[in-house]
Amino acid sequence: MAIFSYQNLKKILFLLEPETAHSVAGFGLTIMGKLKPIRDLVKKEYLIDDKMLRQDFFGKTIPNPIGLGAGFDKNGSYIDSIGAIGFGYTEVGTVTPLPQDGNAKPRLFRLVEDNSLQNAMGFNNHGMGEMASKLQNRKNHDMCVGINIGKNKLTSEDNAINDYEILIKNLESYGDYIVINISSPNTPGLRDLQNEDFITKLFSMAKKLTKKPILLKIAPDMSSKEAIALCKIAIDSGADGIIATNTTIDYSLSSHAKDFGGISGALLTTKSRELFKAIGKEFHSKTMLISVGGIDSANEAYERIRDGASLIQIYSMLVFKGPKLLKEINLGLIELLKKDGYTHISQAIGANHIQMK
Ligand SMILES: Cc1cc2nc3c(=O)[nH]c(=O)nc-3n(C[C@H](O)[C@H](O)[C@H](O)COP(=O)(O)O)c2cc1C
Repeated sequence: MAIFSYQNLKKILFLLEPETAHSVAGFGLTIMGKLKPIRDLVKKEYLIDDKMLRQDFFGKTIPNPIGLGAGFDKNGSYIDSIGAIGFGYTEVGTVTPLPQDGNAKPRLFRLVEDNSLQNAMGFNNHGMGEMASKLQNRKNHDMCVGINIGKNKLTSEDNAINDYEILIKNLESYGDYIVINISSPNTPGLRDLQNEDFITKLFSMAKKLTKKPILLKIAPDMSSKEAIALCKIAIDSGADGIIATNTTIDYSLSSHAKDFGGISGALLTTKSRELFKAIGKEFHSKTMLISVGGIDSANEAYERIRDGASLIQIYSMLVFKGPKLLKEINLGLIELLKKDGYTHISQAIGANHIQMK
């Protein structure tokens, strides 16, 4: 029997403003982080650590392929609890060099009818100094942690590269991988950095600073052709992988959508899957691919894996379905792998493209 019912908790959380609900959930995760016996109980209930799903991820063994999408744990406050509720790895941030408040509130909205979220947070975070000390002072270093980095709002596009440089220098030793975020829609001009000149300069600078893997996270609002070209530039410049996708600015997806910020969750599923499929076809055996965007079931997760994802990430559907979803997806993945005659997840990665050749 589940030790707590997220569906009951959700009834209370959904009465609150979305950002307040996030803080309340964050408070619970912080408390859980301090209480190992509670964490162990929760972990026993939710974490799936299975030999069919276990993978080596840039030198660290992760128990299952589901990671927490960036933006939930902006300051690296919940790492141990995130592992206990069932995630195989986590991505903290987006962190910027200096602390910043983000955009004016309200800036986070539930599109309940659409099982989706819309946010215009704008990289609210406590800055790299606090992130460094949080990551350094962790008691437990088992969890695989990616650090997602972005430029400060007040840093001009011309100086953006300096922000990424200072972030990598200060944070690289504390995480297992680094993610360059130039795909959030809520920092003016950020997505303009998704161009050949910037990406080439960025990776040639970054690769000199660290031996840690560096991945590029891309937006969904471009054609497959554009995405493939962008990923190719990044990989040729030294990127160790691609995370696709961030939130979408396609407000035509729902009549409930606002005309600002980025949409995530069910409304993003098709767009994100289609773009990922194209990227997977091109790069699945050539680099590490992580698929994120509206993943809400084992079938959807499996499709992304068969399209080329070694790993997936989830954010919005955790809000709607709770940690039980992670367990359901992991157990479902084991069943789907067995049904297809596989003994390990690695055999399914990119299978859709291999069969089509
Ligand atoms: C409230 C909120 C804040 C987010 N903040 C970030 C962020 O700081 N950096 C980032 O790379 N992605 C951020 N994202 C995007 C997610 O990491 C993810 O790419 C996107 O939501 C699609 O996944 P999902 O449909 O499972 O939510 C944020 C998403 C939400 C909903």
